[in-house]
This record gives sequence, C-alpha cells and structure tokens, in this order.
Amino acid sequence: MNVNRRHLLTGSVGAAAVALTASACASEDGGGDGEAKKVGIAMPTKTSERWIADGDNLKAAFQDEGYEVTLQYANDEVDTQVSQIETMVSQGQDILVVAAINNEALNGVLAQAKEQDTTVIAYDRLILGTDDVDYYATFDNYQVGVLQGGYIVTALDLENAEGPFNIELFAGSLDDNNTKYFFNGAMDQLNPYIDEGKLVVVSGQTDLQQVATERWDGATAQARMDDILSTHYGSEKVDAVLAPYDGISRGIIASLEGAGYTLEELPVVTGQDAEVESIQYIIDGRQSATVFKDTRQLADTTVDMVIALVNGEEPEVNDTETYDNGVKVVPSMLLDPVSVDIENYQEIVVDSGYIDASSLDQ
Ligand code: BGC
Repeated sequence: MNVNRRHLLTGSVGAAAVALTASACASEDGGGDGEAKKVGIAMPTKTSERWIADGDNLKAAFQDEGYEVTLQYANDEVDTQVSQIETMVSQGQDILVVAAINNEALNGVLAQAKEQDTTVIAYDRLILGTDDVDYYATFDNYQVGVLQGGYIVTALDLENAEGPFNIELFAGSLDDNNTKYFFNGAMDQLNPYIDEGKLVVVSGQTDLQQVATERWDGATAQARMDDILSTHYGSEKVDAVLAPYDGISRGIIASLEGAGYTLEELPVVTGQDAEVESIQYIIDGRQSATVFKDTRQLADTTVDMVIALVNGEEPEVNDTETYDNGVKVVPSMLLDPVSVDIENYQEIVVDSGYIDASSLDQ
C-alpha cells in the first residue's frame, strides 16, 4: 500500500508548523488507495481550553496527512457525544478518535463502529468496558497526580517543616477514568504526611467519592470550597489545596478570595492543563502551579498511531499493563507531563510556543 509516511519521517511537528502546512497538503491521500481516509474526532467540551487545542491540533495534523476530518464537541453532554459518534459511524469514518465524557457510555456505539471495521483510539481518557477500543494515547496520568501532590510537599517543605498544615482535597469527575489516577498519584505523595499528622484535612473529606467534582466544573468546586470554609474553618487558614484541573483551581481561588483571603494568605493551589488564565494567575501569585500536558505532542502521537495502523504496522506504545478497561488491557502510549510554576512557565509554555506571550500580562 502506498501510504503517506511523511509525518513519520519528519517526526514531531508543532501546532504552528502543522497549521502552515495543513491547507497545502489537504488534498493528499490519507489512505493511499485513491480515496482519502476519513477520521471522526469526538471531543468533550469547548468550555476548557485544552480540548479546543486538542481538537485544532488533531484536525491540522490529520489534514496534513491527507485525511478528511470531522471534528465535534459535545458540550460535556453524554447523550450528545453518543449521538455525534453515531453520526460519525453512519458517515463511514475509517478512524474514530474519542475523548470520552463518560467512560462507560460508548459501548453500544463503538460496537456499531467495529461492525464496519473502524479503528478506535481512546484519546486522553480511557473508554471502559468494551473490546472495541484499539489503542490509547494519553499522558502518564498517575504521574500528573504525583506532580500535583509532590508540588504541595515541596512548597510546604513537609520534609523539614514542623506543621501541622491544613489541606483540602479536590478531584475530577468520577466518570472520567483519569480521575482516580490523578488522585491516587497525588495521595501517594500526601498520605504519609496526613498519617503522621503534619497535614490535616480539616473538613475530614478524604475519600474520592467525597472530593470528586462532577464534569470538572469550576463552579461546583467553588460551591464545595465555600461550604468547607464556612463549616470547618473559623480563624484557621487553609495552607494547601489539591486541585486537579485549572478550571477547578480558579473556582477554589474565587471561593478563598470571596472569604477574604489576601494574596499573601492564599494557600498553595495546584492545577492542570496550563490554561492561559491559570498561567496569568501564577504570574499574579494567585495559583501556585499547574501541570502542562503538550496537546501538540498528543495529537502527533495519535496521528502516528493511526498512520502505523493504516500501514499495517504496530503503533509505538510504551505501556501494555496499566490501562485495563475491564475487558482488556488497552495498549497505550503515555507522554510525560511537566510541572509548571512561576520559575519555569516562561521556558515551558511560552518559549515552547504553547502560549503566546501577548496573551499574558507579565
Ligand atoms: C484530562 C485533563 C483535564 C480534565 C478536565 C481530564 O481527562 O486528562 O487534562 O484537565 O480532563 O477537562
């Protein structure tokens, strides 16, 4: 088969380079058999920046390889995503790239996809309870949590400081398979200090079920933080908050500021995704850190997987043990997340071209 291998030969390309070449190459043949291969991309929501970047990067990278692309966002509504994927299946997409809203809602529609031999890639979030997912492209989700929890350990100098310090815990949406990996990674860092009493969860809310945030919604997190502050904190202050995602971090910070915390009094607050608004919060000293996951790399990894499969080759993976979806262990490619704070944001997210300096007030 005469498959377009330019992408593999040139290796990783940044979003800007992809964007420049996308239109010039849009007519190339993704399948090499005379007809462009069709790829359907299902993303969860446009309310969070990262998914917009993921969708844009994937679309550009697939078009660069000559694929015909359908990209849909589901406004974080499970039923909408299911029906969008149903439509993609009825359109005869050769490949589906899916970042699921609910990790168990897609089994029916993916079974339909498999009847017509569609290749299914779980993108960033694993799809559970089905044999009909071929590969998983993501970041090392446990390591994301390690970076978040580890940031708090270092920032409070828990090794040496006497404490005790007050901490509150937040996690993501329970229907997202990543949530438990982030939380477990973080708690493996924090639990030893909670056990020895150096860290105190004043609210007593430590179970994943109690600390989860449905749909990763910042307003939901803000309301929970309001409740924690009014119920459990009098003159005492919160010293650290484990927050799994920047939108949640900003909700928590809004709650703290609403309760009268000054800039100097704000606790250590973690995050994830290096959203522009949160990088600005980091510059302004309101949020302490975030975890950067380069969605340009994830798009390239996904396209490389698809090209290998179309070419009849085994895609490159680096984990064939961790991601058991209940039916099978899905072969995975895990990319490295990077912790970002005031010390390295310039190098990691600005100099790398991920965020334009002009969108920040530095
Ligand atoms: C992603 C995170 C993101 C979160 C909320 C997770 O599945 O891995 O990067 O912060 O969803 O959108």
